[in-house]
Amino acid sequence: MSTAACTIVVLISGNGSNLQALIDASDGDKTSGGYKISAVISNKADAFGLQRAAKAGIPTLVIDHKQYPDRQSFDQRLMQEIDAFAPQLVVLAGFMRILSAEFVQHYAGRVLNIHPSLLPDYRGTHTHERVIEAGEKQHGVSVHFVTEELDGGPVVLQAVVPVLQDDTRDVLAARVAKQEHVIYPKAVSWFAAGRLQMRDNGAWLDGERLGNCGIREYLS
Ligand code: GAR
Repeated sequence: MSTAACTIVVLISGNGSNLQALIDASDGDKTSGGYKISAVISNKADAFGLQRAAKAGIPTLVIDHKQYPDRQSFDQRLMQEIDAFAPQLVVLAGFMRILSAEFVQHYAGRVLNIHPSLLPDYRGTHTHERVIEAGEKQHGVSVHFVTEELDGGPVVLQAVVPVLQDDTRDVLAARVAKQEHVIYPKAVSWFAAGRLQMRDNGAWLDGERLGNCGIREYLS
């Protein structure tokens, strides 16, 4: 078995707290789910995550989507830059651009995303506000493979958190974020160790097809 670490490229658009969690966890044992972040690419020049990457000695690159006439040409450039690092996995960590079908097909089964809801519920944006408004008792976060269906790819891992009576958007978001930082490195490590795959539009862990919610972890 190869002991070379799995290489990943991380795409971000902002703060990069998930990127930080991935950086912190990447110091681990390279033979058991270890991975190496080859590059961090942002579509925004002022994304704080770029500073986090630079501090960790990881190459960074900005590809400003506003400089491209359409999604296709932006994605073409993105693919070109990603492919230069030949990563085994592309990790979306707060990357707030919808990816074209061409991009998704190019990296089929090799793109993970983290979404702040218990998918398939609350796809899209402003999930925390919508969960509070709906009076939900629980909320959470999902790691999933990316397919052409927006926020619709096979779920790998979810963390469930309670919604408390006086929760504001920010309080709930912080509770969810704490779990994001636990489950994302875990899912990436599973992929890096060769334990996790996407097959037949499903997520498979250790040779078993996961259910619609993937693996669920609960925070009481
Ligand atoms: C995270 O909460 C992540 O779940 C969310 O953006 C935030 C990025 O935070 N992603 C999405 O909403 C994707 N649709 P970060 O930049 O601090 O990692």
